[in-house]
Amino acid sequence: MNVIWYDTLDSTNSEALRHLQDFPGGTVLVAREQTAGRGQRGNTWFSEPGKNLTFSIVLKFGQDGVPDLAAKDVMWLTYLTSYTLALFLRSFGVGCDIKWPNDIYVQKHKICGMLIENTLKGENLDAAVIGIGLNINQREFPQLAMATSLVRCYGKETDLETCLQKFLRIFEEEFPLIFDERERAALFRGYSHQLYGKDRNCRYYDCLRDKEYWGILQGVEPDGRLCIWDLESEGKPMRYYWFKEVSFVL
Ligand code: BTN
Repeated sequence: MNVIWYDTLDSTNSEALRHLQDFPGGTVLVAREQTAGRGQRGNTWFSEPGKNLTFSIVLKFGQDGVPDLAAKDVMWLTYLTSYTLALFLRSFGVGCDIKWPNDIYVQKHKICGMLIENTLKGENLDAAVIGIGLNINQREFPQLAMATSLVRCYGKETDLETCLQKFLRIFEEEFPLIFDERERAALFRGYSHQLYGKDRNCRYYDCLRDKEYWGILQGVEPDGRLCIWDLESEGKPMRYYWFKEVSFVL
């Protein structure tokens, strides 16, 4: 992979999307500082300059030996990235959970978030920009009470460049799995196994019904929906959600 370091960018995702034609697949843009880091749901991604990894991986499909990926299979990028981040953290002895669909938590604290943005070519993906904010050496999170970092979990500061290389090695190794039916099953098992709240009683907020309830997360359906057993239901107990239709009450 071709890694480009920038001192300052507004957002590595925005820069990658602005110049998508110029960046070959496999380019990685890393910023020591982002002035307008973007998170999920239009949120801002805060990260202390020089302390964490904020980067975007540019992927291109159907060229340079990379197979096509159907737009309907886009969630495999989520499973792949979440799973490889979990493997990366585990290499430091840090266990984590994946809060569906793609937040990485250590106990009740978020250590990593991702923002995946795509462009389409007919029914296939043309390109994907996988933006990752991975907290490494930041110790205090004044804006975010529920955030954590590798240094807080692992106990030692780690070099950002070494961390990035280590993560990218794992990512590159696992990437081909998403194009193979049998390998997908193994990847999906790895992802599902680490889902936050799996097989445990947890509190959920159902955005569609504007209601909190106790439920047990069963897993993710083949179509990507989250499946929760509603412990308070008087009718059908199984509930299925698309992204943004349900949230965890932490
Ligand atoms: C989230 O959990 O809300 C997603 C956060 C994604 C942040 C990363 S940092 C690198 C890349 N550039 C951005 O502007 N956002 C992503």
